[in-house]
Amino acid sequence: MTPVIFSSTSRLWLLRTPNTSYALRLDADDTPRHLHWGPPLTLAQAEQLSAGQPLRVSSFEGPGVGGAELPTDGGASYGVPSLQVRFADGTQAVEWQLMDDRIEGGELEIRLRDRHYPFECVLHYRVYADSDVIERWVTLRHTGTDAPIALLRTDSGCWHLPSRPDYRLTHVAGGWGHEFQLRRAPVPVAETVLTSRRGTTSHHANPWVMVDAGDATEDGGEVWSAALAWSGSWRVTVARDALGHVGWTGGFGHDGISWRLRPSEEWRTPVLAGLYSPGGFGATSRQWHEYARRHVLPRPEEVRPIVYNSWEATGFDVNEDNQKRLAGMAAALGVEMFVVDDGWFGARSSDHAGLGDWTVNPRRFPNGLGPLIAEVHRLGMRFGIWVEPEMVNPDSDLYREHPDWVLHMANRRRTTLRNQLVLNFARPDVAEWAHKWLDRLLTDYQIDFLKWDMNRAFSEAGWPDRGDDAVWLWVDHVRNVYATMDRLRADHPNLRIESCSGGGGRADFGILARTDEVWTSDNTDALDRIAIQYGYSHLYPAQTMAAWVTDTPNWLTERSVSLRFRFLVAMAGVLGIGGNLTHWTPEELRLAADMVTLYKEIRPVVQHGAQYRLAPPDAALTGVQYLAGDRSVVFVWRRTVPFEHPAVPLRLRGLDPAGAYRDEETGAVHLGAVLMAQGVLPELSEDHSGVVIRLSRV
Ligand code: GLA
Repeated sequence: MTPVIFSSTSRLWLLRTPNTSYALRLDADDTPRHLHWGPPLTLAQAEQLSAGQPLRVSSFEGPGVGGAELPTDGGASYGVPSLQVRFADGTQAVEWQLMDDRIEGGELEIRLRDRHYPFECVLHYRVYADSDVIERWVTLRHTGTDAPIALLRTDSGCWHLPSRPDYRLTHVAGGWGHEFQLRRAPVPVAETVLTSRRGTTSHHANPWVMVDAGDATEDGGEVWSAALAWSGSWRVTVARDALGHVGWTGGFGHDGISWRLRPSEEWRTPVLAGLYSPGGFGATSRQWHEYARRHVLPRPEEVRPIVYNSWEATGFDVNEDNQKRLAGMAAALGVEMFVVDDGWFGARSSDHAGLGDWTVNPRRFPNGLGPLIAEVHRLGMRFGIWVEPEMVNPDSDLYREHPDWVLHMANRRRTTLRNQLVLNFARPDVAEWAHKWLDRLLTDYQIDFLKWDMNRAFSEAGWPDRGDDAVWLWVDHVRNVYATMDRLRADHPNLRIESCSGGGGRADFGILARTDEVWTSDNTDALDRIAIQYGYSHLYPAQTMAAWVTDTPNWLTERSVSLRFRFLVAMAGVLGIGGNLTHWTPEELRLAADMVTLYKEIRPVVQHGAQYRLAPPDAALTGVQYLAGDRSVVFVWRRTVPFEHPAVPLRLRGLDPAGAYRDEETGAVHLGAVLMAQGVLPELSEDHSGVVIRLSRV
């Protein structure tokens, strides 16, 4: 199948993915306009679409309404512009002229230039033979020699939906400790902005949207979705007008920041990828997971190791002795990677001081990290360590030496959050300094894993030396973080990185292209985690979702649930352990060792299988199923079942209805058709209990 076709007679491009098509055409005035995003079409069918009746609009509206692939200011268009520029003479409208197009395999570039001003724009599209995800981004170029061009908004693309009787928006919202809470509501006839103005992806919203016609379920119905590969400020505006038009535009940056493009400078937006699926929210998520594996993650085939992390056990009080003790106990459970969290460096004995002084604290580790790492290796585990390279405490040698290295503005206070300030990573000297100490740390010690944290949002995001151009830091900070990670990975090929930002504040396809997993949330309460993991799973695969078993009562919610239940929830992602093992009873340690063994057995299915959400996270009985080849692993969790309200069985998905499946635990054989039609209803007599069912096809 040719992935991209151009018809010169109808000035139309057709993009084809395995199960969908996307079509656009060039208007008489050279504006690329959207035609189709949905089920597969042939070129002839797309041409017929193109020749069809144009939208009937009154003369009060004019013909320019809706549908531009990259809406701009200009003419009678009043929707949300994806591209908004201002030329030196104050003109703030664009008129395009096609230069040419370039098709290479699955890539299409449509090259446009302004009819008058020295300004070029390339619309980029990429399709793959193994995914229905379509990637879009834009490059802009100043081709003149004098005044700069103001870039007021530079989105990666605008996506339009076909006419349907109604529309519904699905997204996630939340905050620290309650990330990824799924929301679903009708799309209002208005402009709905999902955004982060924090300089980072944020806990509060995540850069993806799903829109359906109000009738999609987990198992069926058309869903259109998009995800932005960017870890800084961002904005996606979903617009629905009274004429029935619905679409969204999205990209990096947020309202109120703009850039100046100088002669011969080029501007490239991050990828905003889109996906159409007729298979409901479940299939939509599975397609995004598959896309992440095939086109985003650096090491998708890896079986993720079981991590022990000392944060909830020892807090800032890490030292050689207590870490060795925990390491010994973790190894005995079958843990594969031992991670020392915050507190190992500088004067860091609380979150008030030391951040930025990345030298090993000699009181805590009198002989450096060497002896601990040697012990961890002797125990057969790999070693990891916590770092927060983008931050500094005012009470640190680094800050005393370089007070100008932080984001700040003249005549304004420097707001601290968690007692820290943000280092200006857009500064080449700061990025270079960070790379240097990280590289030395990884060279001096055998470290296989960095938990790269980023614990606060930007404030007073200025760079006084740069005047008007300080605003570039919103983008360059992120680019330099990416570049630092990329360089470290290239020079230390075994390195694994976890993206942490006070929990799940930096999870997106931009950071996932250079990290292996995300610390999903600082909230490790198993009941709360069910909802967090449910929301997370809408875009990101389980193999990136780090989940620890910690102590009870939970430090955040003060809730106590059984150790088995805590394991059963964490085992639905990348299992880790974060409790204080020295306080666990012999029975608890035995149970933990058994659960670790069980996890090792099921993790190829959990981490690399297809995921099916079996019920909403707040259902009395809820759960998730993974399926890989002939094996399926089903987690069932009982929340709170009121008296005489029998729980609804969980119907399994994706099995062969004609097949038979053996329960690996009981040996009982069940028919695929029955498991899917009737479901499973394990006997769980207590609230906050669960079970894992392992099925193999016979
Ligand atoms: C953040 C992380 C935690 C822990 C602390 C250390 O909150 O999310 O897991 O690493 O920082 O200060």
